[in-house]
Amino acid sequence: MNQTKKIAVIPGDGIGPEIVAEAVKVLKAVESQCGYSFEFSYLTAGGIAVDQLGTPLPEETLEESKQADAVLLGAVGGPKWDRHPVHLRPEQALLGLRKGLGLFSNLRPVVLFEGMEKSSSLKPEVIAGVDLLVVRELTGGIYFGEKKRSKTEQGEVASDLLIYHEYEIERIVRQAFEIARKRKKRVTSVDKANILESSRLWRSIVDRIAEDYPDVEYEHMLVDNCAMQIVRRPADFDVIVTENMFGDILSDEAAILTGSIGMLPSASLADGSFGLYEPVHGSAPDIAGKGIANPAATILSAAMMLRYSFDALEAADQVENAVKNVLRTYRTVDIAEPEHQQVGTEEFGDLVVDRLQSCKKP
Ligand code: IPM
Ligand code: MG
Repeated sequence: MNQTKKIAVIPGDGIGPEIVAEAVKVLKAVESQCGYSFEFSYLTAGGIAVDQLGTPLPEETLEESKQADAVLLGAVGGPKWDRHPVHLRPEQALLGLRKGLGLFSNLRPVVLFEGMEKSSSLKPEVIAGVDLLVVRELTGGIYFGEKKRSKTEQGEVASDLLIYHEYEIERIVRQAFEIARKRKKRVTSVDKANILESSRLWRSIVDRIAEDYPDVEYEHMLVDNCAMQIVRRPADFDVIVTENMFGDILSDEAAILTGSIGMLPSASLADGSFGLYEPVHGSAPDIAGKGIANPAATILSAAMMLRYSFDALEAADQVENAVKNVLRTYRTVDIAEPEHQQVGTEEFGDLVVDRLQSCKKP
């Protein structure tokens, strides 16, 4: 990677600016330690954009993001905007970025960090060894299908269309199999094929694509059963691939297995190397501005950016190792146990930077 990589930074609302600042700090350390060159441009989206510019996703934010090599996002939303009409809600920024940037594939890894067993609501023997990845389709299905609402003689009626094209299923399923190849070589495709036609199409495409991956074991699982198995035997899963709304629900369920949603990063990928990276957690308005938010998920999202968008594998490993290393001794208040030294947001970022080892440029 010789040329400068452009990173669009969207801090957003609540704790967004604080946690993003720590991830940028770590990326700057990666520049000097590992010889990369990044250019950061700051853009506005979410509730702050509604307040300042009258729209959750200003045109300029979308256009500038398209010019970048990757996007780093903090979080958007908060109770302040909850009563706004739908087009003025911060979540619209996320949906607009996903669609506008073609981010069809959402990767949400769930790993149990050392010493986090106690934070889980599941028994230690159930949670031990959890290392799964939810691959969620992100630009299709019921989220983006036609929405209707009308009045009839019997009262109001509303509908949301769950629609999938073959190509939309193919590309996400193929990606799940590709990723599984580099992991434990197991794919669980989740659907509701006993009821939904879109799921029956999904299932037939999975069967076809699986033929190209004889080295990868795969199974179909109905979504209700999957929701149960995730809490019953979570360590058995490797890659879970599923459509947009099932993925939304299952990824929250899977995220809490590890005890804190504050630890989990995500990547939303387009064709090629472009991607948007953000923590799985939200904007936590109740603790915004207090300097106590946990920046781990955002820093780990930056590591995913290094890995997936910049192919900087060693740098990504370094950042992840530095975070793990810091967590052994220091923790933010949300996950601190009596044996840990409690630190604030900035201090946590500084500690990660301190532990970052220099790495070779490929
Ligand atoms: C997520 C969130 C979003 C979604 C909301 C905020 C639009 O829940 O990223 O999982 O439903 O996709
Ligand atoms: Mg969600």
